[in-house]
Amino acid sequence: MKIAIMGFGTVGSGVEEILYKKRKSLLKNNFDIEIDRILIKDKSKKRSPLNKNLIFTDNFKEILNSEVDTVIDVTSSLEETYERILSLMKAGKNIISANKAVVSKYFEELNELARANNVYFSYEASVAAAIPIIHPMMEEVFFNDINKICGILNGTSNYILSMMEKEGLSYDVVLKKAQDLGYAEADPTADVGGFDAMRKIRILSSLLYNAKIKEEDILTFGISTIQKSDLDYAKKMGYSIRLLAKSKLDGGKIDISVIPTFLKDNFFAKTFKGSNAIKVWGENFSSYELKGPGAGKLETADAIIRDLLRILSAREIKTFYDGTNSYDLENNCLGKYYLRTSKISSKLEDLIDQDEILAGDHHIITKKTSLDKLEAAILDLNEVFIAKIEEEI
Ligand code: HSE
Repeated sequence: MKIAIMGFGTVGSGVEEILYKKRKSLLKNNFDIEIDRILIKDKSKKRSPLNKNLIFTDNFKEILNSEVDTVIDVTSSLEETYERILSLMKAGKNIISANKAVVSKYFEELNELARANNVYFSYEASVAAAIPIIHPMMEEVFFNDINKICGILNGTSNYILSMMEKEGLSYDVVLKKAQDLGYAEADPTADVGGFDAMRKIRILSSLLYNAKIKEEDILTFGISTIQKSDLDYAKKMGYSIRLLAKSKLDGGKIDISVIPTFLKDNFFAKTFKGSNAIKVWGENFSSYELKGPGAGKLETADAIIRDLLRILSAREIKTFYDGTNSYDLENNCLGKYYLRTSKISSKLEDLIDQDEILAGDHHIITKKTSLDKLEAAILDLNEVFIAKIEEEI
C-alpha cells in the first residue's frame, strides 16, 4: 500500500516516525504501508527522516499522477492546499487532513467532493489531536441526538493560561515555551486569537448538527490581551480562566462561541498545560468527558495513522455530511461577563454591575447580558480582555 504525504513539518515527520518504527507490527497485521513520496516546498532544506530512502519532491503533479490512493495532508497553507485536495479527490484519491484551517473553511465543499468522487475524507487529526472525537461523533449522529459540546480545543492557549496561573509566568515567556514545545503554530495569531479553537468547534458542530455554520458567525474572543491582573482578579473570586469553545442546539437555534471563561474547580479548570478537554451531551448518555493531548508531533500523527488504517482496511465512514439542516445562529443567551479595559463607552456603562479600578484599569463585572450585546458595546474600545463567568457547564 503506497501513500503520499503533503508537508514534512512537525506532524509530517511524526507520521514518518511512527510508520518507520512500527513497521514490523504493522506488517504483521497486513498493513504494508510505504511512503511513495513527500511533497515539500524547499528541496534544499535539510531534513532527517528515519527512512533515508524517502523521496521528496516539490512537484505536486508527481503526487497527483502517482498511483497512490491515499494522500495525507499535513500542510499549513490554506488556498493552495484546498486547490490541491480538490485535484486529488477528483483524481480519486482519499484525503486524510490535519489542516484545521482547510477542513473548517471548506468543510461543505470537501465533503461534497468526497461524496461525488466516492473517496474518503478523514480529518480526525484536525480537532484535538490524539483525543478520538471526530469518529465517535460521526457514529453518534446516526442514532443519538447530540445537542451540546464544549471544549478546550487549543493547546497553546491552555498552556499559556494554566502556566500563567500556576507558575506566575508572563504571557510572552509562556507563549515562547508553547512554541518550543511544538503546540503553537509558526504564527501563533490563530492560537491566541481564538480562531484555531473557532475552526475546531465549527468542524465539530457542522458535523454534529449536519448544518452549515459560517466561521464569521461564530463570536470569537481569544486570550491575546490577557494580563496577570485578569488571572489575579479571577483567582480572588475563586475562579480559573480557560478558553472554551462551545455550541448548543436548542429549539432550532445554535448558540456557538469561543471565549475565555471563569471556571470554578471543574473538569475544564483542572485541564493543564497543552491538554485539550471535551465534554459532550447526548440523549443516550447525558454527558461524557474526554481529556488528553490536543497538539504535538506524535500526538497528532497518531490520529492520522488511525485514519489511515481505517481507510486501508475499509473501516472508514464515508461522509454523510451534506449540511442540509438550517438553524439560526445566535448569541443572545444571558450571562455575566468580566472585562478589563482602560476606557469605558456609554454603551458599556449601561451593562456594568461592578467596576473596580486597579492600576488605572477598570475591572468590570457586567449585569446579566448577552454576548452579542456586549460585543457591540466594546467594539470601539482597544485592548479589552473579556471572559464569561460560567455558572454551570
Ligand atoms: N496550535 C494548535 C494548538 C495545534 O495549540 O492546539 C493543534 O491543533
